[in-house]
Amino acid sequence: MIIAIDGPSGSGKSTVSKLVAQRNGLAYLDTGAMFRAAAWWAHRGGIDLDDQAAVEEATKEMPFTPPLDPLDQTFVLDGVDITSAIREPSLSRVVSKVAVNLGVRAELLRRQREVIAAEQRGGFSGGAGIVAEGRDITTVVVPEADVRVLLTASEEARLARRAREVRGDASDAAIEATRAEIVDRDKADSTVSEFMHAADGVTTIDSSALTIDQVVDAIQSLM
Ligand code: DC
Repeated sequence: MIIAIDGPSGSGKSTVSKLVAQRNGLAYLDTGAMFRAAAWWAHRGGIDLDDQAAVEEATKEMPFTPPLDPLDQTFVLDGVDITSAIREPSLSRVVSKVAVNLGVRAELLRRQREVIAAEQRGGFSGGAGIVAEGRDITTVVVPEADVRVLLTASEEARLARRAREVRGDASDAAIEATRAEIVDRDKADSTVSEFMHAADGVTTIDSSALTIDQVVDAIQSLM
């Protein structure tokens, strides 16, 4: 079973994808975290994120295996626990530079497909399968997935969710501070992936007025 979930920032993808994986005994792959890890790795290597060729080379050498347990998403890169570093607003503001790098995309695509194929044979899920989430999973990474979902939400709902998650509340100040991490980033990211409109065969679920459980149930009903 392969479940592909795409959507913009703050659509609730990660929360929902982890729950779907847990409920069905599947592995969970957060592809956004792979782009974040690549940004962290290049930055630590002293590479200018605008130097596309150098960032691509660094990504190819990145000693990184993504965590696949939906209950333990600890990211370790070269012996360093980067779990919280890759969620820092300062990294969120620059990660798009890495996400629009086509050389990086090709390398991470190769790694993502490798993980997904391994889960069909065995791996963390013992062959049960995987929930993979990101921006181009339904369209590029595994368009042949058994379940393909585009999870959307209004800009207002997405900003409020991310503000609570990153800054602890959804006050006007927190929402304004979050705007650059969401709206501007999605604009940059959408130059390389289409994740605001569903491709043929992809089911759109608008989570603006739904609870997490309702979204999980909606996905379950597609299986
Ligand atoms: O979902 P996220 O915020 O953790 O994603 C981090 C960055 O990676 C963001 O700029 C979008 C990009 N991304 C992408 O281009 N393709 C994916 N499949 C997943 C994420």
